[in-house]
Order: sequence, then structure tokens, then C-alpha cells
Amino acid sequence: MPNTITLTNQQSAVMKTYARFPITMAKGKGSQVWDDKGERYLDFTSGIATCNLGHVPDFVLEKVQQQLSQLWHCSNLYHIPNQEKLAELLIQNSFPGQVFFCNSGTEANEALIKLARKTAEMNGKESRKIITFKQSFHGRTLAALSATGQEKIQKGFSPLVEGFQYLEFNSFEALKELETIDACGVLLELVQGEGGVIPANKEWVLKLADICKSKDLLLMLDEVQTGMGRTGTLFAFEQYNIIPDIVSLAKGLGSGFPIGAIIASNEVSQAFVPGSHGSTFGGNPLATSAGLATVQYIVGKEMAKEAMELGDYLRVKLSELQKEHPKIKEIRGLGLLIGVVLEGSALETVKKLMENKVLALTAGEYVLRILPPLTASKSEVDGFIEALGKSLS
Ligand SMILES: Cc1ncc(COP(=O)(O)O)c(C=O)c1O
Repeated sequence: MPNTITLTNQQSAVMKTYARFPITMAKGKGSQVWDDKGERYLDFTSGIATCNLGHVPDFVLEKVQQQLSQLWHCSNLYHIPNQEKLAELLIQNSFPGQVFFCNSGTEANEALIKLARKTAEMNGKESRKIITFKQSFHGRTLAALSATGQEKIQKGFSPLVEGFQYLEFNSFEALKELETIDACGVLLELVQGEGGVIPANKEWVLKLADICKSKDLLLMLDEVQTGMGRTGTLFAFEQYNIIPDIVSLAKGLGSGFPIGAIIASNEVSQAFVPGSHGSTFGGNPLATSAGLATVQYIVGKEMAKEAMELGDYLRVKLSELQKEHPKIKEIRGLGLLIGVVLEGSALETVKKLMENKVLALTAGEYVLRILPPLTASKSEVDGFIEALGKSLS
């Protein structure tokens, strides 16, 4: 049967930066969303790894509602208790350091890049170059897209921000090259999300971390997509036995409320002083009430462990499905950040899934990206697998 779903960018007064599916979302709860016609969908996109606790999670809703009636916004010229508490909670669960708050993943990476350059200046290091990797994705502002190792993201936006060099991801040859480059830091995703759900090789990461140490390069991780329990630990770096100098966060940090952050070691944090960086909205009382409740819930209820277990279950079910469907070429990922490499177009499969009332994503042309909420149930996974089986048939 030919597919009836077409993507359009011809809508309304909104700029055409997105090709949109013909669905208007009206309501969400847990793993379910309803469109404006009352049609229900199983949402295994989590708003692209953002609604990690499902839609409208009760605990976060309650805390945000309390804050809504108290104070929405005040500038960073004053103390913001939620911000302090959230920073402490992030530090307790990562590494000793300090936190800067902003509003998105891109902004978090902007802050990270600025902090890396400022640290180089503080330490009297000549080079401001940051090494990133091919197929990476770090965001859409000029510095973040310049850091991104994908020409299609950069096309048309020259001149790019100087000072980035892209190496081959997961390549030991590239590490040899790294040893010869004069730089101030390295930035990578431990699972390249947008680039095709490609987990970094553990040995490769350890070697990379060793080189960073010996060459005095900052080891910087973009955990915008991998963070907040998504990969089966609060931060993906826990599974790689490394401690970064700076890590960027966003997406799942606010359960859908816009918030981003960087965590930097105590030493590196010193490079930012009053006036170095800032944000009007960054870390405001409302955003940090969402962030605080989200992290309290993820840590308190051990949601990362749930993600690991449910991810294992989903992978087993996908492997069973693979036996019946040779179109499934490979299953990869970490925790509940899963990529299924298909023989044909992943977008066509997403459309077929949508006809079966299930939402999933692509990551590139051939990879189906599956991002269930960490709160999803095994029976919802079973429902997804059934729909995927039908969609592939
Ligand atoms: C790894 C990574 N970094 C940065 C970003 C940009 O985040 P945002 O869209 O919140 O600016 C994304 C978004 O997909 C991402 O996956």
C-alpha cells in the first residue's frame, strides 16, 4: 500500500525551518500523546530525548505549579535558590565543579566553547583550537554549527567560526593525528545521536582521554542527548570510566521545559568571572524548578537503571524481530538511545509506524531512532515491536 503521509513545510506564518508531519499534538501523558482529533499515539520520540520522564510527569508538574504561583523570573543579578540546589545536585552526581545555566543544548555548547577558550587564555595556552568529530552534532548557532562535523548543517552559513578541526570518530588512526595537533580541547558525543546513533568505542575513548591528559587538552563531552539517564546511567561518561573537564546538558534536564547547562571542574570553572558570560533567562526560578524536580526524580527513583533494563528488553525484542525481518541490518545504541539500521529508508518506516499510531525518529537516511521515555513499560515496548513488525512487512 502506498504511503499516504507527506511532510510539509508550507504552513502559515512560521518560517519553513522544519518539514512537519501532518499531526497537531494536543495533549500528552506518560508515553502517550493525543492529536487534536483525539487520536492516540505511542510516543517513542520523547520530544527527541527531552521528555525522559514521559509527558507531563506528576512530580515535575507539582513543583512547577508551586513555582508558577510564586515567582517566574528574576535576573541572575540575584540569588536563585532552585538554581543553587540544582547545581549542587548535578555536582553531587557527576564530579566536583560548578555549573552554568542556559536555555538549550546549543547554548550549552556555546558556553562550553567559550569556557574552553577562556581556560586556554587563563593557562597561557597559545592554541584555541577545539577538536571535534565527523558526523557529530552540537547545535545551530554559529559556533555550535562550526563545531559540528557535518557539511549539510554548515552549508550557506560561511564564514564559520574559526578554530575547529574534525577528526574521524572511533578511529585509532585519528588519535595518532590528534597527538600531533596543537589544540586546547576535544569535544565529543559518547553516542553520536543525530549522526546515526553511533556509540563511541570504549577503548578508543580511554585512549582519547589519555591523550587529553598527556597533551593537556580539555576533555569535553556533549551529553545534550545522552545525559539525564537516557543511556542507562545519569551521564553516559559513567559507562566509559572517564571524568570530563566540561560536560554540556539540555533536553532531558527539564522534562520539556527549556533549560541547558554546563558542568565544569573547579579548576576550569575559574576561567569564567563576572562579565565573562551570561543569559537573561538562564537558570531562572521556573526553569530550574523543572530541572530540579526532574533530576531529583531521575536520581531518587533510579530512572537510569530503569532505562538500562528497558533498553536491554527492547534490544532483545528487536533482535527477535530481526530474525523475521532481514530489512533490519543492525541494532545499536546505549540504554534507551537506540538506532536500528534498515536496508531501506528510515523515514518511510517512521511514516508507516505513524499509520500504526506509533511515533519514532530517524537519524540519517537509514537509521530508525527509538527514544522511549525512561518511564515506559514493557507492554508499551511490546506494542512498539508489534507496530514495527507490521510496518516492516
Ligand atoms: C548532541 C546534541 N548537542 C546539541 C544539540 C542542540 O540542542 P538544542 O536543540 O537544545 O539547541 C542537540 C540537539 O539535537 C544534540 O543532540
